[in-house]
Amino acid sequence: MYYNSIVYLLCLVFFLSSHCSFCFVNTSELSIVTDKEALLSFKSLVSIDPSDLLFSWNNGNSNPCNWTGVYCDEVTQRVTRLDLSGFRLAGYISPYIGNLSFLDFLQLQENHLTGIIPDQIGDLSSLVVLNLNSNSIRGTIPLNITMCLNLRILDLTGNKISKAIPKGLNHLLNLESLNLGKNQLSGKIPTSISNLTSLLTLNLATNELGGMIPSDLGHLQNLRFLDLSINHLTGTLPPALYNISSLIYFAAASNQLWGEIPSDVGDKLPNLLNFNFCTNKFTGSIPGSLHNLTNIQSIRLANNIVSSGNEGLEFITSLTNNTRLRFLAIGDNLLEGVIPDSIGNLSNSLTYLYMGGNYIYGRIPASISHLNNLALLNLSNNYLSGEIPPEIGQLVEMPELYLAANKITGSIPNSLGNLRKLSVIDLSANNLVGRIPTTFVGFQKLLWMDLSDNRLNASIPKEVFSLSSLTTLLNLSNNLLSGPLPQEIEALESVVTIDLSNNNLHGSIPYVIGNCRSLEELFMANNMFSGFIPDTVGKLKGLAILDLSLNQLSGTIPRSLQNLHALQLLNLSFNNLEGLVPTEGIFKNLSRVNVEGNSKLCLNLPCDGKGEYGQGVKPSTSGDAYSYGVMLLELFTGKNPTSQDFNGEMNLIKWVQSAFPTHTEQVLDTELLQPLMCQTISIKPGKQLECLISVIGVGLSCTVDSQVERISMREALHKLKMVKDTLVKPTLN
Ligand SMILES: *[C@@H]1O[C@H](CO)[C@@H](O)[C@H](O)[C@H]1NC(C)=O
Ligand SMILES: *[C@@H]1O[C@H](CO)[C@@H](O)[C@H](O)[C@H]1NC(C)=O
Ligand SMILES: *[C@@H]1O[C@H](CO)[C@@H](O)[C@H](O)[C@H]1NC(C)=O
Ligand SMILES: *[C@@H]1O[C@H](CO)[C@@H](O)[C@H](O)[C@H]1NC(C)=O
Ligand SMILES: *[C@@H]1O[C@H](CO)[C@@H](O)[C@H](O)[C@H]1NC(C)=O
Ligand SMILES: *[C@@H]1O[C@H](CO)[C@@H](O)[C@H](O)[C@H]1NC(C)=O
Ligand SMILES: *[C@@H]1O[C@H](CO)[C@@H](O)[C@H](O)[C@H]1NC(C)=O
Ligand SMILES: *[C@@H]1O[C@H](CO)[C@@H](O)[C@H](O)[C@H]1NC(C)=O
Ligand SMILES: *[C@@H]1O[C@H](CO)[C@@H](O)[C@H](O)[C@H]1NC(C)=O
Ligand SMILES: *[C@@H]1O[C@H](CO)[C@@H](O)[C@H](O)[C@H]1NC(C)=O
Ligand SMILES: *[C@@H]1O[C@H](CO)[C@@H](O)[C@H](O)[C@H]1NC(C)=O
Ligand SMILES: *[C@@H]1O[C@H](CO)[C@@H](O)[C@H](O)[C@H]1NC(C)=O
Repeated sequence: MYYNSIVYLLCLVFFLSSHCSFCFVNTSELSIVTDKEALLSFKSLVSIDPSDLLFSWNNGNSNPCNWTGVYCDEVTQRVTRLDLSGFRLAGYISPYIGNLSFLDFLQLQENHLTGIIPDQIGDLSSLVVLNLNSNSIRGTIPLNITMCLNLRILDLTGNKISKAIPKGLNHLLNLESLNLGKNQLSGKIPTSISNLTSLLTLNLATNELGGMIPSDLGHLQNLRFLDLSINHLTGTLPPALYNISSLIYFAAASNQLWGEIPSDVGDKLPNLLNFNFCTNKFTGSIPGSLHNLTNIQSIRLANNIVSSGNEGLEFITSLTNNTRLRFLAIGDNLLEGVIPDSIGNLSNSLTYLYMGGNYIYGRIPASISHLNNLALLNLSNNYLSGEIPPEIGQLVEMPELYLAANKITGSIPNSLGNLRKLSVIDLSANNLVGRIPTTFVGFQKLLWMDLSDNRLNASIPKEVFSLSSLTTLLNLSNNLLSGPLPQEIEALESVVTIDLSNNNLHGSIPYVIGNCRSLEELFMANNMFSGFIPDTVGKLKGLAILDLSLNQLSGTIPRSLQNLHALQLLNLSFNNLEGLVPTEGIFKNLSRVNVEGNSKLCLNLPCDGKGEYGQGVKPSTSGDAYSYGVMLLELFTGKNPTSQDFNGEMNLIKWVQSAFPTHTEQVLDTELLQPLMCQTISIKPGKQLECLISVIGVGLSCTVDSQVERISMREALHKLKMVKDTLVKPTLN
């Protein structure tokens, strides 16, 4: 505030000394001094400048032409260009910007600017480029912008601008690029835009625009790029749009448009490289004329009501002349027929091929293996039969393969293991038989594997469990898999979901399952697993669903399940479990637990304490590390376990657990967070907190419910000594 008033006073003095009247603004009286004032005002509304890029912008550095991002005309010595793109500035755009009366380029894209576009933008009569792309600007497009008659590029993409597109934009007759995509604009597309006949680019995609597309847009005879995707546009696409023969990029995806795609679109739009009408209600067939577009790169008609006519899938043959085709998406239509062998003659550049969700039958042609740049092949949800051609194993660069929900038979070819770059494989819901190939060990980048709902048999090869890259899903459910679960399952440290339900797996659940640390959902229902439920399941801290129902598990329910705070559903029904059902944790809410069909299991009465400190009972001499742990927690949090903060469910241990480790400072005694001097060595606050977290960690390890997992007194003391050593030992840095 103080700083700005000094700036203002200086300018005032300057003005009063060189002009006698100061009662109105005469724009020709604006000078480099007012430019400087405007820039300083701009800076004053910048609240965050993470890299201090506006450092040079200060009153002491007298010539603003020298400031970062500021450019001046050499003759007039006035600011003509402001380019602060990608500076990551946060703040508002100052209305003083309107005083930069010589400004041609205003480039503020890729910042975090908020607030509105000031009306004063209309004072920038020389402005040629206004780029505010990728900020968080709100409000409307100010009408005054229509006074910037020299504008050629108006880019407001990626903001939060709402309400209607002003009709008056038609005054901007020099406009070549109008980019309003990714905002919240609503209302109709104003017909007046069609007066902007210099337009080369019109991007209105990803807004809330509705109504019909004005037919007058067909007047934009120079348009190369037209994107109307992701709006609420209705009606048919005006035929006049197919008359804009200059179009290179034409997208109207994700609207409610209908009508036939004209069969001559390829002839009328001979320059087309990108064509995207996905997710509408277009009818007709794949336009035969597309084959004339020998340079086209992307044809996307997925998710419409397009059918194949008499020719079946022969259009694929006609597309073999499109030698630059990279993207062909025709999935989720009514296409019917057999895939022609000529599919292998499609462009060698083909990268994405989506044909799922149609009525395609017959075999998968082996020639598909010629498409050796494929990154994604999706033939799911069709009626394909026959075997998976082993040649698919030649697509060694391919990361995604979807053949789900077909009628594919035979065994999985070993050659699939050659797809070393595979990240997703979905062969689910087919009629595949035989073993899961051990060659799957080759999938070193696999994140997601679904082989469910087939008739795969024999045991699960241990190689499948060596796929430590798996992070998302391993679904082998609904097969005929038998044998025990290999110990190697412990390698799946990152996988979130494992579904082995509805197989014939037997043997015990490996103890090492506790090492699958990322598990959130584990389904093993309806197999023949026997033996005890391993206590180590209690180590799966993120587990939300555990379904072990319909097996032959025996023994008691491990108490460690009580510690799984994320657990939402626990199904142990129809096993041979015995003993008492625990009462803490998830067992407090029996609507989330199913234990029926275990005749030897008894529901517990409220437990009356183990006589250990912290459970409402005084410490006893037999209290082991547990009592010590509670004492540690008590000391370091400054809370007493019997204090009134801990009535009902929230006992001291749970309270600490809920904050540990990421929010530990919230439970620590605030006294302990004060800077610490220790043997005259000052300790870095970060190190201090780290040590305190370690102490709390020791406290928690001492107080775990399960005796087996609880660390011994000896271990606890050893750990505490290590904490102390790291804290007081002077380090070289
Ligand atoms: C504005 O200033 C210029 C130059 O000082 C002068 O020629 C012109 O008459 C002024 N305009 C008005 C409206 O005062
Ligand atoms: C431009 O700024 C630099 C420092 O950033 C300074 O050394 C130099 O003298 C300035 N030049 C002018 C013409 O103001
Ligand atoms: C600059 O712009 C501000 C805000 O729009 C205005 O109040 C001020 O009078 C202008 N300054 C000059 C010198 O024109
Ligand atoms: C906005 O434009 C109107 C004329 O259309 C004008 O009267 C008004 O002064 C302008 N506002 C600003 C802040 O420039
Ligand atoms: C816009 O075009 C229409 C015809 O499409 C014409 O009647 C109108 O005068 C034009 N408006 C401007 C501002 O050029
Ligand atoms: C398309 O252009 C042709 C030739 O210029 C013209 O005859 C026809 O009427 C136009 N069609 C539409 C729908 O504008
Ligand atoms: C498109 O291909 C057809 C043959 O299928 C041909 O008759 C027509 O002349 C071609 N059009 C153009 C513009 O090349
Ligand atoms: C591919 O183009 C050549 C030459 O223009 C033509 O002879 C051939 O019929 C075309 N093939 C297909 C499948 O359209
Ligand atoms: C694929 O192209 C090759 C060479 O251009 C040709 O010999 C072969 O017949 C074509 N295959 C099909 C099925 O069209
Ligand atoms: C594969 O195709 C099916 C059917 O069209 C579709 O439901 C699924 O989302 C597609 N998957 C991917 C990853 O493209
Ligand atoms: C697995 O299925 C195949 C093919 O159906 C069959 O030949 C084989 O005997 C089965 N193996 C086992 C272990 O069930
Ligand atoms: C695994 O696949 C089966 C059958 O396809 C499906 O019902 C089940 O929901 C899948 N499991 C998970 C966890 O996605």
